[in-house]
Amino acid sequence: MIKVPFFDLHRQFQTLRTEILADLAQVCESQAFILGPKVAELEERIAVFTGTKFGIGTSSGTDAELLILMALGIGPGDAVITTPFTFFATASTIVRVGAKPLFVDIDPETFSLSVPKLEEFLKTECVANESGVRTRDGLNVRAVIPVHLFGLCSDLAELGRLCDEWKLTLVEDAAQALGALFPNGDRHVAAGSVGAAGFFSFYPTKNLGAFGDAGLVVTSDSDLAKKMQIMRNHGMDPKYYHEVIGGNFRMDALQAAVLSRKFGYLENWSKRRWSIAQRYQGELAGLRIGLPVEPYHESCGWRGHIYHQFVIRAPQRDQLRAVLNEQGVGTEIYYPLPLHQQRCFQNLGYRTGDFPVAEQTAKECLALPIFPELTDDEQALVILRIREFFAR
Ligand SMILES: Cc1ncc(COP(=O)(O)O)c(C=O)c1O
Repeated sequence: MIKVPFFDLHRQFQTLRTEILADLAQVCESQAFILGPKVAELEERIAVFTGTKFGIGTSSGTDAELLILMALGIGPGDAVITTPFTFFATASTIVRVGAKPLFVDIDPETFSLSVPKLEEFLKTECVANESGVRTRDGLNVRAVIPVHLFGLCSDLAELGRLCDEWKLTLVEDAAQALGALFPNGDRHVAAGSVGAAGFFSFYPTKNLGAFGDAGLVVTSDSDLAKKMQIMRNHGMDPKYYHEVIGGNFRMDALQAAVLSRKFGYLENWSKRRWSIAQRYQGELAGLRIGLPVEPYHESCGWRGHIYHQFVIRAPQRDQLRAVLNEQGVGTEIYYPLPLHQQRCFQNLGYRTGDFPVAEQTAKECLALPIFPELTDDEQALVILRIREFFAR
C-alpha cells in the first residue's frame, strides 16, 4: 500500500544536506554557540522581511511570548484576552507570568479570535477608566493576543482599531504565520508587524523549522526591544549586573545557522504550499466539508495565506480520519480540546459550552498533508481517498 505521510522532514533535509552540514560545521569551528553573529544575521533578516525594526532571537516560540509578556510588565492582577482555539503555549505563558487568560470565542471560518465577540466582551464584561480597562472582578486587562492560526492573519485592522480604542496592547501570536500578509489599504503588512510585538516559532514542523527549538520576537518599539534583549539574557546588563529579572531565552547559533540557510527557500516553499492548497480547494469543492477561506487573496495574492496547515471541517471527522488512516493517509487534529476545557485551566472558571464555536471546531477540524515536498501523486491519492469516503 502506498502511504502518504502527514509530514516528512527527511525529504527537506536530503535536498539541503550539504549546505546545512557545512553551515553547522562553521559554527562548530567557531565554538561560539550562544547568540553571536549567526543569530544577529537571522534577526536582521526576519526584521527586514516583516517590515519591523528589531528581531530578537529566542529559545522557542513559547519563550518569545513569555519574554514579550515579561517585558510588558504583565503579571499578577492583570488579564490578557486570547483565543481558546490555539496551541497551549498561547495561554500557558499568560498564566506563567501570573496573569489570567480571558478567552473570547473564534470566528467559524477563519478559526481566529472573533472581532465582534471581542467587542461585545469588552463592552459587556469590562469597564474603561483613566487607569485602564478592568474586568468585573477587578483585573487589569492589559493586552489582546490573536493567533494567526494555520498561516492566515487574524483581522489585524479591526483588532488594531479595538486595541487603540480600549488602550490595550496588541501582541501577535504569529508562531504559524511567518511571511503571511494582511491587506492595509493598497499596501500590505506582515504577520507580527502590526502589534507592539509579534512572535514566531521555529519548531521543526513549522514553515521555517530549526533543528530543535527556536523562536523570534519582532517589534518596532526600540524601548521594548532593548528590554527584551536584556531580559532574554537573565536581565543582565552589563555582564553579571541585573536590574531586572529575566530568563535564559537565548537562541543558539546552530539553530540560527540552520534557519538562515532555510530562510532562503521559504518563498518557494510557501508558493508550493499555496499550489497544493489550490489543488485541494479545487478538487475537494462540492463535498460535505468546509474548506479554508482565503479572505486576503485578492489583495495579497498567495502571501495572503501561507498554509502552515490545510485544515478542513468535516462533521464526520473521526470516521473520515480513521478511514484515511487505514488507507495509509496521515492526518492530524489541531486542536482536539479547546484551552478552556483543559484540566490545568479548570481553575480559570470556564465551563463546557462557554465557547461553542471553538468546541464545535475542535470536533470537526482535520489537517491534511501539506508540506512543500509532498508529491503530486501523493496529493492525488489523498484527494481520491477523501472523495471515495464521501461517495460511500
Ligand atoms: C500558535 C502557537 N503559539 C505558540 C507556539 C509555541 O511555539 P514553540 O513550540 O516554538 O514553543 C506554537 C508552536 O508550537 C504555536 O503553534
